[in-house]
Amino acid sequence: MTTVDRPAEVTTPPDDAYGLPARYYTDPAIFRLERERVFGREWVPVARVDEVEHAGDFVTYTLAGEPLVVVRGDDGLLRAFSNVCRHRGMVLMAGRGSCSALQCRYHLWTYGTDGRLRQAPHMGGSGFDRRAVSLPSFPVQVWQGWVFTCLDPTAEPFTERLAGLRGRFAPYDLSRYRVVARLPCDAPWNWKLQVENYAESYHHAGTHPGTLEPIFPARYSIPAEHHDDDWFFIDHRPSLPELGGLLVGGAPPLLLFSIDQLAAVWFRLQVDAVDHNQLEIYVLENPDAPLAPQALDSLLASITAINDEDCEVLRATQAGMSSRVYQPGRLSHLERGVAQFHRWLAARLDIGADPHGAG
Ligand code: FES
Ligand SMILES: [Fe+2]
Repeated sequence: MTTVDRPAEVTTPPDDAYGLPARYYTDPAIFRLERERVFGREWVPVARVDEVEHAGDFVTYTLAGEPLVVVRGDDGLLRAFSNVCRHRGMVLMAGRGSCSALQCRYHLWTYGTDGRLRQAPHMGGSGFDRRAVSLPSFPVQVWQGWVFTCLDPTAEPFTERLAGLRGRFAPYDLSRYRVVARLPCDAPWNWKLQVENYAESYHHAGTHPGTLEPIFPARYSIPAEHHDDDWFFIDHRPSLPELGGLLVGGAPPLLLFSIDQLAAVWFRLQVDAVDHNQLEIYVLENPDAPLAPQALDSLLASITAINDEDCEVLRATQAGMSSRVYQPGRLSHLERGVAQFHRWLAARLDIGADPHGAG
């Protein structure tokens, strides 16, 4: 089994913390450990529930290399299955959409929306029992409109972890929000850089000087103070009261969202490799305050501009992680969420407490 040392940085309290050593963003051995102990065990958001509203609606997702498909059954139940054909292993469904059955294009084995094999052409006379074949399934949970799944059937329910975050949602009912746009984005950096960037407002002045900073200055943001590393939350006060607030929150490993007076945004991340992810930025509309077409266009333009600014710094930070001499620097109090995420990760990786592992 892969082992790595715990960096001294993650043992310190959030107000006295440092960044992670560079190898955490580049080392395939650490990435393998994360696949096993983080993505192989934790609940991950894979879809919004309104994407799988009707029987046959499906969304695919790859988690720790495992191809998955979430599908609404003809019986109305939401299920997650292995998206790999039980015949010779071709990935069954691609992207998202609606289907009457899950059919493999290779030799046309066809599964019902309950995962059972319904048809397998030319398989008679071989002692083959079609009824004994079905797609392996995984647990599904819906929380605030997100569909979560988990590769570990023994994992504790996701909602148990989020008692503290739930209170922050009191003014909202995100379960009613609906997807109105998705912006695909290539994300060639380690997944943790994306989470860290989401978990702090410290970068607003440097990275978003003409977009976010004038509206939500870093100095007006308030990271939630709590001792529970299972979630983070930042309350952004606007520079002018009429602009309304911005709430940014998340729960590791991969739930990242924000809510303002116009809409909610979800960063849907599929982690491919130690230095690559597929990102889709979802825009979620409040059904009580639908966006006019022009308002949606201008919101999408603004999200794209802000994300382009983030992409630039994330690419450059990933490039910095190959440095031989970089030593992680001290974090600001505005990066409390980053320190909490690092402690959460260290606990999941269950790495030894050797401070000499830092470097
Ligand atoms: S691999 Fe799917 S039908 Fe053959
Ligand atoms: Fe940003």
